[in-house]
Amino acid sequence: MANEQQSIHGVWASRWVFILAATGSAVGLGNIWKFPYMAGVYGGGAFVAVYLVCIALIGAPIMLAETVLGRRGRQSPVNSLRSLAQASNASPRWAWAAMIGMIAALMILSFYSVVAGWALDYILGMGRGAFAGISGQGAAARFSSLTDDPWRLAGWHSLFMLITALIIARGVVAGLEKALRIMMPMLFVLLVVLFGYSLSTGHFMEGVRFLFHFDLAEVPAGILAAMGHAFFTLSVGVGSIMVFGAYMPRHASIGRTVITVALLDTLVALTAGMALFPVVFAAGLEPSAGPGLMFVTLPIAFGNIALGEVFGLLFFLLVAIAAWSSAISMLEPAVAYGVERSGWSRPSVTAVIAALCWLVGMGTVLSFNVLADARFMVTDDTGWHWFAWTDSGGRTFFESIDYLTSRILLPLGGLSFCLFGGWVLSRDALREELSLKHPWLFPMILCLLRYVAPAGVIVVFVTELFK
Ligand code: PHE
Ligand code: NA
Repeated sequence: MANEQQSIHGVWASRWVFILAATGSAVGLGNIWKFPYMAGVYGGGAFVAVYLVCIALIGAPIMLAETVLGRRGRQSPVNSLRSLAQASNASPRWAWAAMIGMIAALMILSFYSVVAGWALDYILGMGRGAFAGISGQGAAARFSSLTDDPWRLAGWHSLFMLITALIIARGVVAGLEKALRIMMPMLFVLLVVLFGYSLSTGHFMEGVRFLFHFDLAEVPAGILAAMGHAFFTLSVGVGSIMVFGAYMPRHASIGRTVITVALLDTLVALTAGMALFPVVFAAGLEPSAGPGLMFVTLPIAFGNIALGEVFGLLFFLLVAIAAWSSAISMLEPAVAYGVERSGWSRPSVTAVIAALCWLVGMGTVLSFNVLADARFMVTDDTGWHWFAWTDSGGRTFFESIDYLTSRILLPLGGLSFCLFGGWVLSRDALREELSLKHPWLFPMILCLLRYVAPAGVIVVFVTELFK
């Protein structure tokens, strides 16, 4: 039986390493950078409410399904699904879901690396004292001087991608596990610093009000954005969690692990929001500033408090570490598959895939400057076009990849994994993997996987179509 053997890529030392890996994957730029700016763009509370419901009813159950499928399959997501489908006499085409997920993960990595590069640039800036006493305008100007410069962006993007590839090339135990054991305690420090800071700003309650106050009528506007972000932030729908599940030792409670990871991830996102928004309001900035939000607001805060640049440097260092522990999980599904499929060494496979990803990332680098007017998915008075050269409307290369992955590919991938876990995998296999302590939990989980989560994804898609 497939589940008796170990993965050829390696096995984590204990279930704790899986928790480290899954938390490392989940907690990242999605929490600290993306969540606050998305909440700002979609008006706050209504977005946050839909996001929280999606985490609980859709994201967490799918994370559970992915972990089960990975641990049962013991291979890369594509081959795990293929062999599990075979064992259940189902179509091998299910493996396509994992293939699409794997590609989506690489697409995410391509822009993730560029944004993580911004954090690297800010580490240097803080170290040099570039933010001392900076104003709101000054911080905004400094951020655009970074994004306007393709060479500077490309340099940091290359460095980030190189280090990610080096970790992956060393393998599951010597690379991933070792890196996680160093990075995760540091990430914990980030959480504490961020939490302490968000409590210490005088405008704490304004942040809370912005994030938690909502009007039901505002819900439909950002519903797909919020669901897409729930997938993104939990790293589900792409096979990242599945591949980490494949390296998990047997006999570890999957249910409790998943709940721990989902709660931690949510805690970090809400904390980041409560740290950022008070600064936005105090500095008279717009909450809807978009992707630059964190990179403009936090420097103002750090530049104007005692020892702020020391904290600022530490903060951006930890952001970079959080990004690395997520980035490795985006690369791993494809590298594991490449190794299984080609028989090449892990370092060679890693080099090829990382290089491709780097190249696509250059599209994001240029979308902030040289190619800022190259727009995709444009609607104007002459109709709908895939591509147009315009300075209004449509999506830049970066925005297109972000849209395609978070709002379309992740939900579809997650839906497939969930349906596979609920309907294709035999009940006995599911029960055995979950090894629940309380018998009544099983029907509840089965119901989430079979009906609630899939219906949730479909309802959101339909609402989006007709809104
Ligand atoms: N969950 C990560 C974050 O919030 C991003 C991610 C997406 C990681 C998909 C892996 C796969 O930053
Ligand atoms: Na996250």
